[in-house]
Amino acid sequence: MILEKIHLVHYRNYLNQSFSFSKGINYIVGKNAQGKTNLLESIYYCSTTKTHRNVEDVCCIMEGQDSFKIEADIVKKNRHTDMKIIYTKSGKNLFLYHNPIKKVSDFVGFVNVIMFSPDDMNLFSSQPKIRRRFMDIELSKCSKTYLFTLNEFYRVLKERNAYLKNEHLNEDYLEILNEKCAHLESILIYQRNQFLHDLQKISQPFYEKLSSDQTSFSIVYKTFVKPDTVENMKNEIMKIYRDNIDRDIFLKSTEKGIHKDDFVLMIQGKNAEEFASQGQKRTILLSLKIGIVKLIERIIHDEPILLLDDVFSELDEKRRSDLMNLLPENIQIFISTTEMIYKTYDREINTIIIENGNEKKEDTSNGRKA
Ligand SMILES: Nc1ncnc2c1ncn2[C@@H]1O[C@H](COP(=O)(O)OP(=O)(O)OP(=O)(O)O)[C@@H](O)[C@H]1O
Ligand SMILES: [Mg+2]
Repeated sequence: MILEKIHLVHYRNYLNQSFSFSKGINYIVGKNAQGKTNLLESIYYCSTTKTHRNVEDVCCIMEGQDSFKIEADIVKKNRHTDMKIIYTKSGKNLFLYHNPIKKVSDFVGFVNVIMFSPDDMNLFSSQPKIRRRFMDIELSKCSKTYLFTLNEFYRVLKERNAYLKNEHLNEDYLEILNEKCAHLESILIYQRNQFLHDLQKISQPFYEKLSSDQTSFSIVYKTFVKPDTVENMKNEIMKIYRDNIDRDIFLKSTEKGIHKDDFVLMIQGKNAEEFASQGQKRTILLSLKIGIVKLIERIIHDEPILLLDDVFSELDEKRRSDLMNLLPENIQIFISTTEMIYKTYDREINTIIIENGNEKKEDTSNGRKA
């Protein structure tokens, strides 16, 4: 999949600006606060109809304006597609091939984007909900049924929690809700376990090449039953719900479930949050992101776009060049950086210089100033 052009109107610090990209590596170069992350964010927005930053979408509207517009020209499986998003304070209008799209889920994922952002370092230190979010977002890109099952689970969980607030509870009805939860959770745990296992396996070689310090990393999935077959887990979960019912009634909510799941990133068998250096954490994250690209290619035969925001900070020159040499050759990649890169790393590079929300036209070829 290739993003050929993007046109931004009133998007953050972009008043009315178009960019053309090449199919290989695109460097987005500029000083601090010029609009590099904003540009990558707008590409991410085309994939998810949401910003990757932990803020409301309304923040993407240029200050003093009422709406923003993103238009993108995509080539997907050799077919040209026009995509348009108009966001106003009263709602979002989405268009594909010039046709309005009513269901957001029919639009999300049309363009598959994997993004590395400095905020992702939160994955090590933040609350479990950040890691669950990571798992849910990335797994949904590989499996539409995952997203459907997850939404269904949260719907039933809400129903169960609401029912637990009643004074008089019917045991048979509770058993029906338990059964529904257990059924959906056993499928979700199976998928999460498989995903984390596959992700570790596929990312490990990238980590080894990037770190070259003989360390290994692993992902440990934390859930409330032992991962097993879907059928066995369902029986086990039903038992847990029965055993825990008095506590759930007392708390008036569901104490155990996949809504509390978590995972730990480990380095040399130790929790990376406590043990890994900043550079090692970045290396783990980058390996995971490249791993996800590879998983998506393998599972859904799509070539996602990779966005690497400010990826070179905290990486030494060796890791930078190892990273450049490791980046998949067949996909389109955007790398934002504050420094003009003169090294070509043997890859063809298109350089776009950003200055205060505008593209600064300068003759650049192959990453070198002319
Ligand atoms: N809604 C908005 N309206 C107008 N300007 C905005 C809006 N949101 C953010 N900005 C401004 O856009 C500018 C560029 O932000 P951006 O995060 O893209 O910078 P950057 O080039 O990635 O910088 P850095 O190298 O520091 O990461 C900032 O000055 C920011 O204040
Ligand atoms: Mg930035």
